[in-house]
Amino acid sequence: MGDRARGGCRVRAPQGATGALSGRFRTTRGGGGGYGSAGDRAGGGRMKAEFWHTRWHENRIGFHQTEINRFLRRHIDTLGPKGPVFVPLCGKSRDMSWLAERGREVIGIEISPLAVEAFYREQKIPVDRVGRGEFLEYQATGVTILLGDYFRLTAELLGPVTAVYDRAALIAMPPATRRAYAEHMARLLAPGTPVLLVAPFSLKDPQSGPPFAVSSSEIQEIFADHFTVEVLECERKTAEEDPQLVEQGLAWREEGVYRLCRRAGREA
Ligand SMILES: C[S@@+](CC[C@H](N)C(=O)[O-])C[C@H]1O[C@@H](n2cnc3c(N)ncnc32)[C@H](O)[C@@H]1O
Repeated sequence: MGDRARGGCRVRAPQGATGALSGRFRTTRGGGGGYGSAGDRAGGGRMKAEFWHTRWHENRIGFHQTEINRFLRRHIDTLGPKGPVFVPLCGKSRDMSWLAERGREVIGIEISPLAVEAFYREQKIPVDRVGRGEFLEYQATGVTILLGDYFRLTAELLGPVTAVYDRAALIAMPPATRRAYAEHMARLLAPGTPVLLVAPFSLKDPQSGPPFAVSSSEIQEIFADHFTVEVLECERKTAEEDPQLVEQGLAWREEGVYRLCRRAGREA
């Protein structure tokens, strides 16, 4: 079935568009390619933690946005009116402090200590560090971040959350890992919990990355067992439409925005 028929983003790229989004995530310092090789992956196809430590150490974080994500601004209602918001694979996203400023308690998880330290330093938020099992918890007013591996997080450690905001977590994972990511998310959430998912999309070789291409049909497939999936919007811009893309050396960019909801009943 075609992606549009599934109600998702159209995933066909314009002529010559291949790899354009990958340029957006290119290194901000030093050389580009050579990342995402088989040697960078741990068992089960996951990227090794070391891979991310190196990316952060070398400041190769083209995924980081200095502005608040426009889809978050537009679809904040998706997260419901109140309660704690879980932000998986949070990096040092400013979206977390933006949510906190709007009265939402934020709980992030991130594997890179450099990212977590940078978040509190740059946002000028005083923070305490407390060991919690294999995790280090950064405790601060508004934003708590668990330093450690998402796949080792338990519902107990996370605590109850009323919503999830996920931007660009899936593109950090090779295709083989994504279903496990979705299943683990289902384990962490109570039925009825909404997820606002923002997923940049490129037509890169799906095995080569990060960033890894994540199509709309794949998002629907990997989450379908435990979540309802609704496409909120899909934005595709060419360099002609958005001069900023030219500055970034990009031909096009596409982002899909989804509202998921944890279904009742099925154990993950
Ligand atoms: C593509 S970035 C997205 C960051 C953030 N969501 C944003 O919008 O800026 C993926 C992030 O996930 C982190 N990460 C990768 N694997 C992880 C894992 N297994 N557990 C926790 N964090 C992880 C990386 O260090 C990186 O900061």
